[in-house]
Amino acid sequence: MKELINYIMLLSDRVRVERFRDAIAATVRPGDVVIDVGAGVGILSLYAVRAGAARCYAVEREPEVAPVARRFLAENGAADRVTVLTGLAEEVDLPEPADLVMAELLGHVGVDERIHEILSSVCRRALKPGGRVLPRFLETFLVPVQRDPAQGAVWLNDFVEPDFRLIPELRPFPMPAMAPEVRPPRQLGPSAMMERFAIADPGHVRPEAADLEIVIDRDGRLDALMAGFRADLAPGFSLADFPPYPGSNWVLWYRRLLEPMTVAAGDRFAVRVANMHATHVWDWEMTSDRLAFADGP
Ligand SMILES: C[S@@+](CC[C@H](N)C(=O)[O-])C[C@H]1O[C@@H](n2cnc3c(N)ncnc32)[C@H](O)[C@@H]1O
Repeated sequence: MKELINYIMLLSDRVRVERFRDAIAATVRPGDVVIDVGAGVGILSLYAVRAGAARCYAVEREPEVAPVARRFLAENGAADRVTVLTGLAEEVDLPEPADLVMAELLGHVGVDERIHEILSSVCRRALKPGGRVLPRFLETFLVPVQRDPAQGAVWLNDFVEPDFRLIPELRPFPMPAMAPEVRPPRQLGPSAMMERFAIADPGHVRPEAADLEIVIDRDGRLDALMAGFRADLAPGFSLADFPPYPGSNWVLWYRRLLEPMTVAAGDRFAVRVANMHATHVWDWEMTSDRLAFADGP
């Protein structure tokens, strides 16, 4: 049951849930067969059948979530069209090819939940020729920021009240400590892209490292480089964790400078991000010609 706590935050993030719901509604065609990879309690599967899918396979690796997902889907009238499968999506038997493969496997830096590796494997095995994938593209980037002086050592988003109505099992759990007073950082320059790719493109080889130029376009105090992602879910629907929005469940990853640095518009820094295949983002390495980074938050 402990694992279920994580779903409180996911389901309480209204921007995330509603953006996926709307993108799914815009993508699903009547009669589609859908695979929901990393289904959790099945919220995206529910949206897929509501959008007209004939059948949906909700694949989730955590066995304890399956009974909750089955009940949630049954209570919402979707049990006859959604089959919950337990196991790794890369390995589980998928009963039939799909018109749409979809997933919310977006980590703090977008790629760190292995969305590319997992979805390209599922698509190779089970996406019909010409089938659709949601999200379509993923972009990851770094942003130079001045953090709010009131921040503690760890950045937390300002979090709205969770809505437990969706999953009764989650009601007894206390809300994880969040810092509602935390304010977004001040952005000191444009985002610098680390990686952009079509999610399920089997030809995409994720880079080990990225060489970036960080440009400062306003005077300030550079405290950190903060990472973000933008996912293109469907035409007209995208989702980004930076700038942070109220209620976001994504805890943004950043590298703090050892000493904050006064910067001016026009300053430029060369930054290299390496070890980008690591799923623990703290194992990503960041080095620069002129910036010295702290090891932890
Ligand atoms: C961010 S949650 C999303 C849950 C749900 N789709 C939603 O949008 O609320 C990602 C889920 O994917 C599951 N997961 C991660 N890797 C997986 C894999 N390789 N195969 C199946 N499930 C996986 C996790 O256990 C987790 O429940």
